[in-house]
Amino acid sequence: MDKNFYITTPIYYPSAKPHMGHAYSSIIADFFARFKKIDGFKVNFLTGTDEHGLKIQRAAEAKGIDPLKFCDEISLTFRNLSKTLNLTNTDFIRTTENRHKESVQNLWKELEKNNEIYLSKYSGWYSVSDEAFYSDDEIEEINGKKISLSSKSSVEWVDEESYFFRLSKWEKPLLDYYKDNPNFISPSSRKNEIVSFVKSGLKDLSISRKSFSWGIPVPNNKDHVIYVWLDALTNYLSALNYPDTKNELYKDFWPASMHLIGKDIIRFHAVYWPAFLMAAKLPLPKQIYGHGWILSGDEKMSKSKGNILDPLEIIDKYGLDPLRYYLIKEVSFGNDGNISQDRLEDCINSDLANNFGNLCQRVTSFAIKNCDGKIPNNIEFDEDDLKILNKFKSNLNLIREKIEYRDINFYIDFIIKSLFETNKYFNDQEPWNKKNNLLRLNTIVYTTLEIVRKISFMLYPIIPESSLKALKIFEIKENDIKFSSIENNDYLKKNTKINQIDILFKKIEKKYD
Ligand code: ME8
Ligand code: MG
Repeated sequence: MDKNFYITTPIYYPSAKPHMGHAYSSIIADFFARFKKIDGFKVNFLTGTDEHGLKIQRAAEAKGIDPLKFCDEISLTFRNLSKTLNLTNTDFIRTTENRHKESVQNLWKELEKNNEIYLSKYSGWYSVSDEAFYSDDEIEEINGKKISLSSKSSVEWVDEESYFFRLSKWEKPLLDYYKDNPNFISPSSRKNEIVSFVKSGLKDLSISRKSFSWGIPVPNNKDHVIYVWLDALTNYLSALNYPDTKNELYKDFWPASMHLIGKDIIRFHAVYWPAFLMAAKLPLPKQIYGHGWILSGDEKMSKSKGNILDPLEIIDKYGLDPLRYYLIKEVSFGNDGNISQDRLEDCINSDLANNFGNLCQRVTSFAIKNCDGKIPNNIEFDEDDLKILNKFKSNLNLIREKIEYRDINFYIDFIIKSLFETNKYFNDQEPWNKKNNLLRLNTIVYTTLEIVRKISFMLYPIIPESSLKALKIFEIKENDIKFSSIENNDYLKKNTKINQIDILFKKIEKKYD
């Protein structure tokens, strides 16, 4: 089995500071990266910023600053957000870096060499906000303003000399590829839209612009800059030092395991990107996963609509792990989701403080008082203990499989159910009434601690900091966390010290009007 895992987020436009939608994609990517890491994979996790094109040039002009200076500043806020979100990204790429420019120009030359590019003229609609070309039937007119049907962003007429990519010839190979690789476009609900778009006929794609200069120059024709999406998509390769296909990074990690994106940019990733790659004779990524949108009210949260939620404000108020937990649990992965502070507070109170935090506190306090502050030595599992312990072992492969199918909902439901069952087990077993049966008392404590350990391992990809705090009970360190060990029922070393830990989550006082 392939034990390498390469996951990417979109590279975000540094046209304005990051919002909750960006945080969402990045946190989900980090969930997969961390899970794969504790499951023994070598992981490459890439994020970054997409800095060229008219959208950025105009945003910089509006501020009266040089575009690179403008990008330097906002790109840094994205880089800082990666840290604030506790991402395990192994790289952060900016498309204004030389390593990237070289990659893009090389890919261009490769396409040119393969006769995939020709010079002609583009006359049609363009949305600067989406950096996308739209045909007449993708446009509507509202109050005399032309806008894109799909994104509602305004479009302008473009009439200029342009290089074209022979996209039309890849129609059949793309459809074949989707058919042969049923999980390439995921979730499956996104696939139909793409298949019907491709089936409706692909036109050759304009891949250069002449009327502005903020971009990577076309090799051998300095009058043109490369279309920002051809530039941006190539980031996934430039971070692996493409065109050097002999280096370790490229050999280990291409093709990518998963390009995680929002559904707004699925066409670029599921149509244009694989077509570029096929045309350049490069292997295709294994999966394009287009998750849903975080809505604010009923609308997509976006910079242009001005209805954005600031992740930093939420983190300031509640802490990072509650936000991570909330986004991973409450936005059903793949679908759109509304977010509300009210539901976030419910999550903190019921799942994190009551269910998880409280269990950790109760069992450690009890063990410190009644088991000499040590992991019990003399134990003998009975049926009740084994029943609850073995659920992990018997579900181990199923959990892995569910993660392969990107079923985050299953993963988190399994944890929540296990927490409920464990709290119930501890109550029902009444270790406090077993002071004259120390073998039983010790076994109940050991069993409960073992499950706290297993659940903390499983929570690591979701709430890493809190998981590590909980694991301090046993002095377990980050590098010791191995997913496979959740099947082990005597992982905890007998007779070693148990540490009392600080409260993991503070309950929120809820105000009811
Ligand atoms: O499209 N809900 O950058 P971008 C969920 N530079 N996710 C959201 C979201 C929302 N309301 N809003 C944004 C670009 N996102 C290009 C990408 S990739 C080669 C180039 C997330 O700054 C989601 O992942 O507009 C979406 O696809 C991405 O941010 C768009 O970010
Ligand atoms: Mg966008």
